[in-house]
Amino acid sequence: MKEGPWNLPLLPFAVLLLLVVGATAGVTALLLNISERKAEERNPYVRLVEVDEDTTDPEVWGTNWPRQYDTYKLTALPTRTRFGGHGGSEALPEERIERDPWLKRMYQGYAFSIDFRDRRGHAYMLQDQEDTKRQTVPQTGSCIHCHASVLPLYRDLGDGDVVKGFEKTYAMSYQETNARLHELGHGHPVSCVDCHEPASMRIRVTRPAFVQGIQALAEGEGEVPHLPSVQRWREGPRTRPYEPNRDATRGEMRSFVCGQCHVEYYCSDKFKLTYPWAQGLTVEDAEAFWDATEFDDGERFYDFKHKETGAPILKAQHPEFEMWSQGIHARSGVSCSDCHMPYMRDGATKVSDHWVRSPLLNKERACLTCHHFSEDEMQARVDGIQDRNYELLDNASAALMDLLDAIETAQAAGASEAQLAPALELQRQAQWRLDYVASENSMGFHAPQEAARILGTAADLARQGQVAAMAWQTAATHAAR
Ligand code: HEC
Ligand code: HEC
Ligand code: HEC
Ligand code: HEC
Ligand code: HEC
Repeated sequence: MKEGPWNLPLLPFAVLLLLVVGATAGVTALLLNISERKAEERNPYVRLVEVDEDTTDPEVWGTNWPRQYDTYKLTALPTRTRFGGHGGSEALPEERIERDPWLKRMYQGYAFSIDFRDRRGHAYMLQDQEDTKRQTVPQTGSCIHCHASVLPLYRDLGDGDVVKGFEKTYAMSYQETNARLHELGHGHPVSCVDCHEPASMRIRVTRPAFVQGIQALAEGEGEVPHLPSVQRWREGPRTRPYEPNRDATRGEMRSFVCGQCHVEYYCSDKFKLTYPWAQGLTVEDAEAFWDATEFDDGERFYDFKHKETGAPILKAQHPEFEMWSQGIHARSGVSCSDCHMPYMRDGATKVSDHWVRSPLLNKERACLTCHHFSEDEMQARVDGIQDRNYELLDNASAALMDLLDAIETAQAAGASEAQLAPALELQRQAQWRLDYVASENSMGFHAPQEAARILGTAADLARQGQVAAMAWQTAATHAAR
């Protein structure tokens, strides 16, 4: 047998060499693959165009992410369910204050008694705000916060600082702010850049009022069993403020992106846009927050004075995030996006449906992934909850209308403001609760028991107010005899 240079047999040497080369190649390939995957994780998308913080036009993003953009565009389609979406013509959604006249009476003295319509898809948010007849009374630039892709506008107004720009808008008129938005070329409804970081595509929150509100929530003591990252922050050293984009879990972020806008707020030219969460997320927590708030001149906080009775009223606005927070789904870690942006399959990839709409139009993907019943059964469960909520709304609104009648009768009979103070205070409390559930857009679904509790209390407070107003009359009649 011929031997090689180190006296090794040539054949086994060749085999060994091949094995070593093969193994090295294998390991190298594996390492390369891992590093490619890491790179993919960092930047998982092939980009045909660059997008950055100033790209508010969703169509540009659509070049890179056509599936998400295609579904996003569908928010321009009309949708309708029993209580969701909107009726009316395609030009204008149905007028809610005509359909439910008690709403109109409840809002007397405020712009909502002029025009208050059904909501519709995200594609319309800027247009509907520009067109509403509520603009016939002066509105503040703060309105824009939840109806347009505002980041470049805020940077422009704040010399590069988003928060500074945001804090300037409340003192500006809506028209002036809106004109600047369009001049800068950013007149778009909520867009990709508002929920996604352009470099990584990670979801994020961008709305200053949300960030400030959730920081105040973290620093307060309100119960948040459904927000583990806030609980962890509270138990930590608290060296820096809670920052959702850094501290929140991905699951929480899937609701926070919506909580940027679908919340109770104060928006006028008196102080900056504020989310009332420092004491917690329940209806009572928000009421306590507003009751502890004063205007600069020391006057007690209110949204408007009721035109018929003069009571200083708190107006509630779409508290979807707060109501969801009180329900079993939030408690079980089910996010807004799970139901309103469910995954759909596109070949081998999972795509989040960006056609944000009523989940009842999409029960198979929105509900049946977790609930193993038929679509009809799930619809029936929702119907049961919404019918009961509607009935309770009816009861509580009838009670409020009776309270308004009683106060008016007493006023006509000569009752003074001081004599009616207890009844007017009860009007404020009852109306706040009734409006809270009425303006929440799920007809009770997001937290059925909580909505029923609030409406039960609302009816009770309204009847107590009615008794107080009538008691004055009885006392006056006795005195006259
Ligand atoms: C478990 C599923 C689920 C979760 C989680 C959920 N929703 Fe809903 N949402 C519903 C259902 C069901 C309705 C009622 C739809 C209807 O009546 O057509 C609804 C209604 C709505 C509506 C009115 C829809 C319309 O078509 O008018 C809005 C707005 C909304 N939800 C926002 C949110 C936000 C924001 C969150 C998170 C803070 C959230 N939802 C969490 C299921 C869910
Ligand atoms: C905190 C975020 C936020 C702010 C601030 C805000 N909106 Fe909205 N707006 C929403 C959301 C969410 C909806 C959809 C849910 C609904 O209609 O209840 C909506 C719906 C609307 C609609 C359509 C339905 C209707 O009410 O007729 C109009 C019009 C509107 N807003 C005008 C305004 C005006 C005017 C202002 C300033 C006073 C304003 N918005 C400030 C979040 C906001
Ligand atoms: C920048 C503010 C903003 C953000 C962020 C936002 N919304 Fe909205 N949403 C609105 C406004 C404003 C409307 C009402 C538009 C109109 O009526 O013209 C609306 C309408 C809706 C509707 C009614 C759709 C219909 O067809 O009737 C649903 C459902 C909804 N939003 C759910 C969500 C969910 C879920 C998220 C988070 C994934 C979310 N929104 C994020 C402001 C926002
Ligand atoms: C109201 C907030 C919101 C807006 C606006 C929005 N997205 Fe998303 N997007 C989400 C959420 C929530 C997810 C799910 C992310 C997760 O679970 O990590 C998502 C996921 C994605 C993903 C990851 C893959 C997938 O489908 O789950 C891509 C890509 C994406 N969006 C592209 C876009 C594009 C392009 C636009 C604009 C046309 C856009 N998004 C607008 C909230 C939004
Ligand atoms: C990601 C999972 C998930 C999705 C998606 C989901 N649910 Fe649920 N749902 C749950 C969990 C978890 C509970 C709590 C039940 C338990 O723990 O036994 C629940 C409870 C309920 C309840 C009982 C509510 C109560 O207050 O007692 C109803 C009704 C319901 N879901 C309807 C729906 C409907 C309708 C949809 C679609 C619009 C939906 N769910 C989507 C997970 C989900």
